[in-house]
Formats: sequence, C-alpha cells, structure tokens
Amino acid sequence: MKFFIDTANLDQIKEAQELGVLDGVTTNPSLMAKEGITGRNNILKHYVDICNIVDGDVSAEVIATDFEGMIKEGEELAELHEQIVVKIPMTKDGVKAAKYFSDKDIKTNVTLVFSVGQALLAAKAGASYVSPFIGRLDDISTDGLTLIEDIRLIYDNYGFETEILAASVRHTMHIVNCAKIGADVMTGPLSAITGLLKHPLTDSGLAQFIADYEKGNK
Ligand code: G3P
Repeated sequence: MKFFIDTANLDQIKEAQELGVLDGVTTNPSLMAKEGITGRNNILKHYVDICNIVDGDVSAEVIATDFEGMIKEGEELAELHEQIVVKIPMTKDGVKAAKYFSDKDIKTNVTLVFSVGQALLAAKAGASYVSPFIGRLDDISTDGLTLIEDIRLIYDNYGFETEILAASVRHTMHIVNCAKIGADVMTGPLSAITGLLKHPLTDSGLAQFIADYEKGNK
C-alpha cells in the first residue's frame, strides 16, 4: 500500500519523506488555507515546492466547479510539474473532466467520494485515483472501511485500474484496516503515519537491551 501524506505543511512533508516511507502528497483547498497559502501564484508555487520535496504524485485540487473552468485550471496545474495529479470533485462536470484528462493521459484524483456508485463512475471515467473519505463517513456513524471494501470488490470484479486512495484517514487503525482490505493508497496526517511506529514492548525491550549491554561493557 502506498503512503501519501495529507497536508500542505512543508515541514511535515519533509519529515515523512526523510522517514523513507512516503509515496506522495494530497492537498485540498482547506489544507492550503490552513498553512496560510493564499493567492493563485503563491498556491501554484507551493505545489512546485511540494513536488521538489517528494518523489511521488502530488494531488492539486481545482477550485472551479464547471467543466470549462476545471479543464482550464487542471491543464495549468498539470503543466506545473510532472508529479502533479489534477484533483477533481465528484460532480457531473467533475466526471466529464476526469474523462477529458484521462483521454489526454493527465493523471486525476476524483475526490469527495462517499458511495460505491460515485466510485464506479470515477473508474468508468478513467480516473487515476478515487478518494473515498473514510473519516468523514465514520463521523456520521457510517462505516468508512465498508465503503473501501465494496469499492475493492467492484474494481476487482471488472479489473478497473483506478487506484483506491483511502482519504480522510485519521489514525493508525484506519491505515492498518485499509491495508487489510487492500486499498491501493492511504492518505493521512503525519501523526497517523508515525503512530505506526509505537509499541510499549519495543520501548521497554530496547531499554532492556541497552541496560544489559551497559552492564556487560562497563
Ligand atoms: O484527503 C481528504 C482529507 O483532506 C479530508 O480529511 O480529516 O478533513 O476529513 P478530513
């Protein structure tokens, strides 16, 4: 399973990259605003800065909601860097835009997906990635992981190549369960990724090894 980090924070992206397990980055307009990145030029420059830190795909989201606007913006984003993936909302115009970009071999990530029907449409349109938001489904008492499971089943039934990018991942167990189900990618915060490191028996075992070494090497 690929690990993407879901942030526009350059320090956190660097930290995940230095850990050696990062395969890409996802951003969205809320995450850009959280970092205080405003104004079209600054936003575009920030995407390039992110691409220069990581090796893999970097999702950059369009703001336009109409087909023509998404195409214009998406083409501008795709021109920025070869690692850019155009992120498009799951709407009627978004599906049309995903098909347009797929025909032009421009990678897309269809976002704000909350149902299997939406995921099926994204795959039919030739999206490179589909982003079901599992945390936001959990927030409204609907099991987000079941959605990943259902999409996996349908994509495997028909051999769709669209990668399932489990988004709105909030914690370590989301990551572990997505891996069990067979999500192709997960995107989450740095805390969820580094949370996978932690186990008290690792800490106590290491402390014991060091203590025993020091006893024998006084
Ligand atoms: O990748 C989608 C993500 O940014 C949404 O996460 O935590 O705001 O639901 P969250």
